[in-house]
Amino acid sequence: MEQSKKQIFEEIEFLKKKLNAVILAHYYTEPDLQKACDFLGDSLQLSQKAAETTADVIVFCGVEFMAETAKIISPNKKVLIPVQHAGCTLAQSVTAQGLATWKKYHPNGLVVSYVNTGAEVKAETDWCVTSSNALKVVEQLPRDKEILFGPDKNLGAYISQKCDRPMQLWQGDCYVHRYITPEVVLDFMARYPESEVLIHPESVASTDDRILSSDRCHMGSTSFILDYPVKSKKRQFIIATESGILTEMYRRYPEGYEFIPIVPEHICEYMKLTTLEDLRDALLYERYEVVVPEEIRERAIVPIKRMLSVR
Ligand code: 13P
Ligand code: SF4
Repeated sequence: MEQSKKQIFEEIEFLKKKLNAVILAHYYTEPDLQKACDFLGDSLQLSQKAAETTADVIVFCGVEFMAETAKIISPNKKVLIPVQHAGCTLAQSVTAQGLATWKKYHPNGLVVSYVNTGAEVKAETDWCVTSSNALKVVEQLPRDKEILFGPDKNLGAYISQKCDRPMQLWQGDCYVHRYITPEVVLDFMARYPESEVLIHPESVASTDDRILSSDRCHMGSTSFILDYPVKSKKRQFIIATESGILTEMYRRYPEGYEFIPIVPEHICEYMKLTTLEDLRDALLYERYEVVVPEEIRERAIVPIKRMLSVR
């Protein structure tokens, strides 16, 4: 007989207590996981939680690089990811070898890597950043150093413009945010003249002059987008990021607010791979354990710690 959803939620609760586990989930995951987790956040908040938790086991509902980051931060904890090979096009766009070659051509450079990278790439990195803190981190780096920013070319170009500082950019991108072009944003703005537009800087649109100069457009991380409406007099918002975020937006904001996803047909399939059953099975079978070789971990923790020290 098929189990009801309620039973699965109960099993998750029971197993979680038994293992002294904490469940972390990103805003892009399925609504059921967002409900089952102990902590829901963007990539920076989830890394901070992984660093703080006293649980013995961390179950990470999200993509591989996030679970790997948790393991790097908390090597003595068991870190589980319910679905193996939940990747990320950005993380896959750069290898440690590729980065090492890039560094050879820029020997005076400082490597700033988006947290959306594998452990081996982080091990070759000077500073990690997320979309929440990239601006803060880059602003405080010495001006006489060249910056090699990767792998997201859109976030890199956005930060470079904001800091008024040229940077070398790795040419990776996210296969969802590449569809958020200036033309699509301008079209939505024309169709919804009363709206404001909240844009994740991984989007192509984030560096377009027409978008940057519009007082209706605001750029920021997942958390920024979630927090913004409360500060605004407007009630209609165009959401220019992955539409999984809408679950949390409608949970947070009362009736009367309207959120219009800009590219709902382009979702992050990797984030949606994990189901409630997968989460239950991860706890039941204690699978799949994330392993980072110690030699890599010791180097990868350095740029992550630097990032976490920036508040
Ligand atoms: P955040 O850092 O805003 O959570 O974004 C992570 C991500 O993968 C966005 O596509
Ligand atoms: Fe990676 Fe894009 Fe998915 Fe974020 S939305 S996890 S950047 S593929």
